[in-house]
Amino acid sequence: MELLSNWCSNGSLPESYVLPPEARPGNPIVPLEKSIPVIDLQGNDRKETIRQILKTGKEFGFFQIINHGVSKDSMDETMKVAEEFHAMSGLDKERECLKDPNGSCKLYTSSYAYPREEFHLWRDALTHPCRPLDQHIQFWPENPTGYREVVGEYSVELWKLSCRILELLCEGLGLSINYFSNELSEAPKIMINHYPPCPEPSLTLGLRKHRDPNIITILHQGQINGLQVFKDGLWIAVQPVPHAFVVNIGYLLQIISNGKLNGAEHRVVTNSRDARTTVSFFVYPSDECLIGPAKALVNASNPAIYKPFKYADFVIASYVNPDKEALEDLIYKSTA
Ligand code: OGA
Ligand code: NI
Repeated sequence: MELLSNWCSNGSLPESYVLPPEARPGNPIVPLEKSIPVIDLQGNDRKETIRQILKTGKEFGFFQIINHGVSKDSMDETMKVAEEFHAMSGLDKERECLKDPNGSCKLYTSSYAYPREEFHLWRDALTHPCRPLDQHIQFWPENPTGYREVVGEYSVELWKLSCRILELLCEGLGLSINYFSNELSEAPKIMINHYPPCPEPSLTLGLRKHRDPNIITILHQGQINGLQVFKDGLWIAVQPVPHAFVVNIGYLLQIISNGKLNGAEHRVVTNSRDARTTVSFFVYPSDECLIGPAKALVNASNPAIYKPFKYADFVIASYVNPDKEALEDLIYKSTA
């Protein structure tokens, strides 16, 4: 499994990256004038902010946030070390990711399931856990210079921001404010995606249509277009807003909210001119955690759509051994 960045400047797209016509970016056409709502977290009416978050969390499953409290310097420095990491040679990158004998720092190309993929995707990725910081940071890359310090500080800020957004969501949903302050958010991860310029953007994707298999994701997407959200049968481009974050509702939060929030499907398209690097902060539960609709949101007029399951079983059915039917059997309450 050779990293994409080792050979992608060869000039042609290998056959194994050519998606079947129905999965290519052109289908269906994207209306470019639309984008997803931008919410000001410093808006002076807290109730109004919560209302907006709940509304877009339901309608789009996605929103962008500004005035979120994370400094521009921290965002810029993080993007810089993220780009520098992917610009290193393949061997250097691999060496930087071997520091944990248990393999918690992962470097791969396309998707985690590369050997079993029917089609490959135009991206490389680095991912590692980030909380508690002092249990993980010693296994992170030491190069590029400053990686640990910069990404360490960033992950602390992003954790605070995640908690704040989850609290706003709890308040809006009618859950206790600390509903997620336990094993539901115990295992956050940083992921640094890299999508090099692609010779044939119309034939392949950086990421195929997916829902994030977690609680929420906070994405720093930089200034290059590429992320698209699926809504009402169309793909909506998430236009970059300088120093904003893109927040999306994960599949698990859709389930916990019993469908009040939407874990929207999304994908990443490539382009032939600019490399694109993005940094995701994923809020994940622990493997043993039990997931299911929150009791406070279920009653006679809102019956549970989903049934409780162990997060580890969801991981198996959604990406270790992807199987749509097995996943639906696991999460949906039978209607029979
Ligand atoms: C993801 C994701 C979007 C992007 O990592 O799950 O959807 O623009 N990333 O990199
Ligand atoms: Ni995603």
